[in-house]
Amino acid sequence: MTEAAPHLLHPFSYPAKPEGDYINIVRGEGVRVFDDTGKAYIDGIASLWLCQVGHGRPELLEAITSQLNELASYNIFDPMTNPVAAAAAERIASVSPHPNGRVFLASSGSESIDTALKLVRLVQQRRGHGDKQIIIRRTRGYHGTNFGGTTAQGIEGNRVGWGDLVPHFVEVPADDLEACSRLFAEHGANIAGVITEPVQGAGGVWPPPDGYLEGLRRLCDQHEALLVFDEVICGFGRTGSWFAAQTYDVTPDLITFAKGVTSGYLPVSGVIVSADLGEELSEPGFKLMTGYTYSGHPACCAAAIANIDVIEADGLVKRANQIGERFEAGLSALAADGMIESYRGVGAIWAAEVGRDTLEIRNRILELGVILRPIGTSLAICPPLTIEDADIDQMIEAIATTVAE
Ligand SMILES: Cc1ncc(COP(=O)(O)O)c(C=O)c1O
Repeated sequence: MTEAAPHLLHPFSYPAKPEGDYINIVRGEGVRVFDDTGKAYIDGIASLWLCQVGHGRPELLEAITSQLNELASYNIFDPMTNPVAAAAAERIASVSPHPNGRVFLASSGSESIDTALKLVRLVQQRRGHGDKQIIIRRTRGYHGTNFGGTTAQGIEGNRVGWGDLVPHFVEVPADDLEACSRLFAEHGANIAGVITEPVQGAGGVWPPPDGYLEGLRRLCDQHEALLVFDEVICGFGRTGSWFAAQTYDVTPDLITFAKGVTSGYLPVSGVIVSADLGEELSEPGFKLMTGYTYSGHPACCAAAIANIDVIEADGLVKRANQIGERFEAGLSALAADGMIESYRGVGAIWAAEVGRDTLEIRNRILELGVILRPIGTSLAICPPLTIEDADIDQMIEAIATTVAE
């Protein structure tokens, strides 16, 4: 434990909690991280739903260091660009459902969300649909913590306490396509778009009901609204395809990404827009008046390219499906034994529903050397895609031991 240091204000945490009461993570290697006592933990949530390639990969470290030596940082606002940003955009588009689309780059998932929301409104304004401003959000949705993303969230606790949020957001119950259809029937002329995670992550790991995403696509098409998939968690192999849009065979107009694009080695996020939208925005003389200092940051983009290379070379997208099969087998055995109530997931993202608050359970599992994320009555599981079967079995065993206690 470190001495109490009063300066660090932790995110999603208790400002009154002494620094010394936190688990002090000091090192990572493969699927494990280590605290300052040397204790090893299986990183069962891939840092925070993001470390696809595992910790300490030399390929990423070399790519980053080499780029830092060449050019660490430079903006790409007009008239500047850099070859790494252009290459990263090309690489990201190439594995996405929009290989001919355009890629806007930023740093955090929250920035990608706010940019996507702005782009949705912008496109509608430019089409002459100034009355189309409503964005539909789903309960349980998590879309980051900037003002747009905070407003787009369907997790109420995250929305309150900040004063007025962004106007014109309407919530529908997460899995109720009928409710969404009614909203479109009543307000279609004013709806700019729908934002959804294909698989809701921080809200508790909820894959979409059959036909749900197709239904959203249909409604958006019928009412000239844009569909945004927030793939900040789902992207880059997590659901067993490069993007969940491919897993569920539904193509949105815009896709936000972050996290897995660099496995967290350096921050990159962004928005992929379809080729059609890209063309709409490419009207001569039109200037896109949004962006970030670190959009296209060379060292960060080098991390993204190297990370995508590793995902490809190691076959991690396919591996996500095998990981899923093993978790499903383990979790279904726990459910059959009555140790958990149910389970849900896809690819390498799962949740065990234990039917009671999971905070204490998570703490005990930490003692056993496994990091999971407690979300209400469920435990979320989202390991690096490099995890081996023996580690998956150890995670299942840790859940079994703990819930049995
Ligand atoms: C689906 C989704 N969208 C957006 C975000 C926000 O990303 P960031 O924390 O990088 O701002 C997250 C973070 O967990 C997320 O899960």
